[in-house]
Amino acid sequence: MHQRIRNASLAERLMTAEEAACLIKPGMTVAMSGFTGAGYPKAVPQALAALMERENDAGSDFRIKVLTGASTAPELDGVLAKAKGMELRLPFQSDPALRDQINAGDLDYIDIHLGHVAQHTWFGFFGAIDIAVVEVAGILEDGRLIPSSSVGNNKTWLEQADKVILEVNRWQPEELEGMHDVYYGTALPPHRKPIMLTEPDDRIGVPYLSVDQEKVVAVVETDAPDRNSPFKAPDETSQQIAGHILDFFEHEIKRGRMPEKLLPLQSGVGNVANAVLAGLATGGYEGLTAYTEVIQDGMLDLLKTGVLRMASATSFSLSAAGIEEFKSNIGFYRDRILLRPQEISNHPETIRRLGCIALNGMIESDIYGNVNSTHIAGTKMMNGIGGSGDFARNSYLSVFMSPSVAKGGQISGIVPMVSHVDHTEHDTMVVVTEQGLADMRGLSPKQRARLVIEKCAHPDYRPLLEDYFERACRDSFGKHTPHLLGEALSWHERFVETGSMRPAL
Ligand code: COA
Repeated sequence: MHQRIRNASLAERLMTAEEAACLIKPGMTVAMSGFTGAGYPKAVPQALAALMERENDAGSDFRIKVLTGASTAPELDGVLAKAKGMELRLPFQSDPALRDQINAGDLDYIDIHLGHVAQHTWFGFFGAIDIAVVEVAGILEDGRLIPSSSVGNNKTWLEQADKVILEVNRWQPEELEGMHDVYYGTALPPHRKPIMLTEPDDRIGVPYLSVDQEKVVAVVETDAPDRNSPFKAPDETSQQIAGHILDFFEHEIKRGRMPEKLLPLQSGVGNVANAVLAGLATGGYEGLTAYTEVIQDGMLDLLKTGVLRMASATSFSLSAAGIEEFKSNIGFYRDRILLRPQEISNHPETIRRLGCIALNGMIESDIYGNVNSTHIAGTKMMNGIGGSGDFARNSYLSVFMSPSVAKGGQISGIVPMVSHVDHTEHDTMVVVTEQGLADMRGLSPKQRARLVIEKCAHPDYRPLLEDYFERACRDSFGKHTPHLLGEALSWHERFVETGSMRPAL
């Protein structure tokens, strides 16, 4: 293990996770590594949660503010939630226990664009960072750090935190060394300079993270796996969605609006996005690139078959089977994958310059193309906006996809008015369900509504939407974006009251 900690001075700061956890005090703002179930600290949060449980059982209120790259895993979000140890969490989560607490109103959750987190920290919007807990794959002789399976906001955490705890995880493959590209050129306005990245595979930084050794108060050894839930096998609905998207790409190539090798792909999180990647494998493409946030299982398959030439991301997000595949063929993948800080993977400048194709899941879209990615019935948090807004607003093509119905048909994914807006009609270009694809580019609101209802709505809900739209066109206060304000959210009200959006017979 000590080969992983090659700096003598830092090796002297080795201690147990329990000892390190004692350095974290109630009320502190703690910035942790981790972006989906990859590269998050695995020992200190668990030791901290045990400490919190003991103190909270004895009547204390031991809670901290937790910042990360994105969601993490049961060993971080799960245990801290169960210990009731968080008063504030940002910027993204997907843990069931934490989600329940957020929706019970027990803690504050700030759901923000993942590309904004680093700069908002630098701007001081979250206050001082008391301590950073960052997983790394190793420490070099000179004290530089070999990043782990995600980069996320680690550069910012290490720079901004008053104190640093490092977890050196032997489970992470040594071959990760060299796969990262950490850009140290960001600055605060008005001192910003162009980010000189013109291709997804451009290297603009260095493969290591730097830390002021004076700030490192603990080094903890671990040997624990990353953890992500397995993806559902692509079902018929997802395959149909993928089919519509592939047909659309072909159509765009024929029209001369898309190059034959497409444009750099961004693929969101979730089962549908993963299924679309699987669909791309059958599209006859080769030599494509990805400029995205996470490398999911589907992307490994595309790299393996040569459909993808390379992928740039900030993190892995692999199932256990995906991790096994990556580790077994790491020599192959390390030449084809680059991991960057999330402020670069999700940067509006780079996304706009590369002209990405953004493919993201959604909860619901309304007939005008406003998209809700986060809130069930407008009030209940699912996961968060993640990077979908970073990409949707700035990509060449912004696609949102979902099955046309959820919960066995009780909920329509296409509604008169979304109950929460994450992506406005000005940013969404294409909405696709298993029913079909609506290309809304260049259309007015009423043209968009007709198309979305015709192409994307489920047949059970299509007549209801047609009826709503016709009456809105007739009776709306304004006729530019016709709505019946008293009725627009009645589908959601009905769902909350009865468990179904279907009208009573
Ligand atoms: N109302 C209620 N529940 C809904 C719903 C709706 N309109 N639409 C979907 N759901 C539920 C599904 O029933 C499913 O529930 P389950 O877990 O109990 O089975 C769950 O949401 C996930 O839906 P699924 O259809 O399997 O899609 P997904 O796994 O692709 O996830 C999002 C869809 C929207 C939740 C997911 O894409 C997301 O969190 N997006 C926001 C963040 C993002 O886009 N990040 C990527 C940026 S790089």
